[in-house]
Amino acid sequence: MDALTPTDIQDKKAALARRYGAALPPAGPWNETIATLLDHRSVRGFLSDPVPPGTLETLIAAAQSAATSSNMQLWSAIAVTDPAKRKVLAEIAGDQKHIEQCPLYLAFVADMSRNERMSQAEQVTFENLPYLETFMVACIDAALAAQNAVVAAESLGLRTVYIGAMRNDPARVHELLGLPPKAFVVFGLCVGYADPASKNEVKPRLPQSTVLHHERYDAAPEVRDRPVYDAEMAQFSARNEMQATTWTARMRNRMGPLKAMNGRERIRATLAKLGFEIR
Ligand SMILES: Cc1cc2nc3c(=O)[nH]c(=O)nc-3n(C[C@H](O)[C@H](O)[C@H](O)COP(=O)(O)O)c2cc1C
Repeated sequence: MDALTPTDIQDKKAALARRYGAALPPAGPWNETIATLLDHRSVRGFLSDPVPPGTLETLIAAAQSAATSSNMQLWSAIAVTDPAKRKVLAEIAGDQKHIEQCPLYLAFVADMSRNERMSQAEQVTFENLPYLETFMVACIDAALAAQNAVVAAESLGLRTVYIGAMRNDPARVHELLGLPPKAFVVFGLCVGYADPASKNEVKPRLPQSTVLHHERYDAAPEVRDRPVYDAEMAQFSARNEMQATTWTARMRNRMGPLKAMNGRERIRATLAKLGFEIR
């Protein structure tokens, strides 16, 4: 998938229709950045073409430009090129082959270890480190940084897919990447050029009536609009040869049985072993 053409950028109605199907919100202000955002789709088939020189550093500059809570910058990224390591990471992620295939793989780390080292060097106890709040900040910082990298990559005509399945076995990932205590891979990110042979349609989202509230939370539109979205996702699934049909069916599969967590239900205990106290 190449960068957007001038026609794509101008065609806001088409972009909104791809994102929402029939439940089209009114078109508002528009520009190239918004067109790029609305054109997002995860890609799971990559060409072997390398990313241009300097791309990694540009993506990291974009990532570091994200807002970060109190400028604490509680995240790091690890670029993994070693094929043997990629193979293990793909296995951990339930054999997600794109981890081995993509030219650039980044592991995003919720990283409290740097500030822990600072606390030791400065001989000051950072009393706030063991609290859930700080762990949440580290995860939020990592996610915001990664999403900036995603937007930057997509603006360059590259495609990406997040790999939350790093959390299937965080201890093994931790060891493989030589992380210190209080550092944890929240997710990985595959980056590269989309293989034109793989299906990469824009995936519709819930109607705005379901996620956008005015003044007060209102769950009432869900009853009316979930079937609308289910129908939209059923058509999307059929076009893209995906297993479950409706969104409801997919959520039942993903959130119903504990086995769908693929080991992530043990994450709290693992985090404790990785040095996160989380009070
Ligand atoms: C934190 C996070 C973790 C994800 N983990 C995976 C993953 O392990 N494997 C995968 O194929 N997709 C993964 N995804 C991609 C989502 O499945 C995808 O974003 C979602 O289905 C919406 O599709 P879209 O990105 O094409 O719009 C992840 C996305 C996020 C945000």
